[in-house]
Amino acid sequence: MEAPKQNDYILEVQNVTKEFPGVKALDEVSFRVRRGEIHGICGENGAGKSTLMGVVSGVHPVGSYTGKVLIHGQETHFKSVRDSEKMGLTIMHQELALSPYLSIYENMFLGHSRNRFGIIDWDALLEKSRPFLKRVGLRDRPETIVSKMGVGKQQLVEIARALSKNTELLILDEPTASLNDEESEKLLDLIMELRKEGLTCVIISHKLNEVLKVADSITVMRDGKSIQTWDTRTEEVTRAMIIKGMVGRDMKNMYPEKTPDIGDVVFEVRNWTVHHPEYHNMKVVDNASFTLRRGEILAFCGPMGAGRTELMMSIFGKSYGSKSEGEIYHHSEAVQFASPRDAIAKGIGYVSEDRKSLGLILIQDVKTNISNSSLKKLSRFGVVDSYKEVAAAERYRASLNIKTPTITQMVRNLSGGNQQKVVLSRCLLAEPDIFIVDEPTRGIDVGAKFEIYTILNQLAATGKSIIMVTSELPEAIGMADRIYVMNEGEIKGCLDRDEATQEKIMHMALS
Ligand SMILES: Nc1ncnc2c1ncn2[C@@H]1O[C@H](COP(=O)(O)OP(=O)(O)OP(=O)(O)O)[C@@H](O)[C@H]1O
Ligand SMILES: [Mg+2]
Repeated sequence: MEAPKQNDYILEVQNVTKEFPGVKALDEVSFRVRRGEIHGICGENGAGKSTLMGVVSGVHPVGSYTGKVLIHGQETHFKSVRDSEKMGLTIMHQELALSPYLSIYENMFLGHSRNRFGIIDWDALLEKSRPFLKRVGLRDRPETIVSKMGVGKQQLVEIARALSKNTELLILDEPTASLNDEESEKLLDLIMELRKEGLTCVIISHKLNEVLKVADSITVMRDGKSIQTWDTRTEEVTRAMIIKGMVGRDMKNMYPEKTPDIGDVVFEVRNWTVHHPEYHNMKVVDNASFTLRRGEILAFCGPMGAGRTELMMSIFGKSYGSKSEGEIYHHSEAVQFASPRDAIAKGIGYVSEDRKSLGLILIQDVKTNISNSSLKKLSRFGVVDSYKEVAAAERYRASLNIKTPTITQMVRNLSGGNQQKVVLSRCLLAEPDIFIVDEPTRGIDVGAKFEIYTILNQLAATGKSIIMVTSELPEAIGMADRIYVMNEGEIKGCLDRDEATQEKIMHMALS
């Protein structure tokens, strides 16, 4: 067999090393991507995946790293993302980058479509957007304001934008992290379609099944190093092989063992109805009732839009909806939570599914982010005891294995999964007795998931009660004592741990 010619590789990374103060994010990384393939990248939180793609795409400019990046066989010297775009490369970041208040087509052409007089002909661009939107299968009108659409559709807009720029190499950093199964599948199908037309893709994901489904080759990273690349067309690659590469050891159980010790009902919601914040006649949650016992872990499953998050947020101090009615009993006593603050004060903890809006203060350090729901507890005579604050932060850094050089690092500089651990730490420190966690392991690698599951089990073992909203059915089945299934705002039923299967949950949701 003939060795591939130099330019059979659209991207080559050779011995790239990149350091941040106190962190060697990339350590002699080498790998290459063949033209026209889908190349998966896997690795634990903080392994260096996003940083690597930042180097490739000019987010981290030439001079800020050592080693070589070649595109189309040519060494690059990108000073910014703009330079890489000129060479046909587009990167879609972990957090979406569209302007929420602009329309689809405005977003598509923003920043790269002036005529030679510097004037933008928006009418022409509106027309120009149509074929690209059609190609990604987005049927919304191009004038639609982006913030009115779900994340899944926003992502399609980003891809349409990339295509309109003649992108040859598309880098997707955890594209399906906030999508439901159906949306994810659609996105992956689209990428496979585009591959047929010659597009090359690099896809970073913690969802190994997805990577195995779409990728022609897979590179695993660990601790800033490229560990191994497999060609899935010539080798049988399994989940277990990838996981072993990622964590450096075999992982047999995805869910820690536990022997539940479940007591009396500590929390009960009866006939809870929530109305849409804008369309007041529309019920987003309809007459939901459930119970939660001491030491119990409940899972709430159901398709996107089933009303799970809305139910939990409205319970948690009415932080969602225009009107919510119904009864809440906490230790058999009727209660109302007037605000999230009130709910926290009464022992309810809530970890929202959206890291950014849930109040992680990205430009503050890890320590402050962890302590800021518990300042009272950390204070003496009204003054925060900085020794206690540091000790608390260090404790969670160790127990959740938060990857950061120091607890004074800005949260913005942490990898996505490690930001999630900071959010969890904050909630843990406040020591609620009822713990509501919405998609607690989104964007989190397998090893860290196991750590978080262990922590949730430990909490339950000490008599706390946990409500877990999750879109991952195996997670619900692996973790929960009982599973409530929701759809269309209603609780459709409840399954016990030993009777629950994925099929039963899905049937129940659709019943
Ligand atoms: N701007 C920065 N300043 C300081 N440290 C950084 C910065 N960006 C990343 N790091 C550190 O570099 C390491 C690699 O981070 P990176 O974001 O590349 O990880 P990742 O593999 O993408 O993880 P995840 O799966 O959680 O997104 C981490 O230890 C992170 O804290
Ligand atoms: Mg990342």
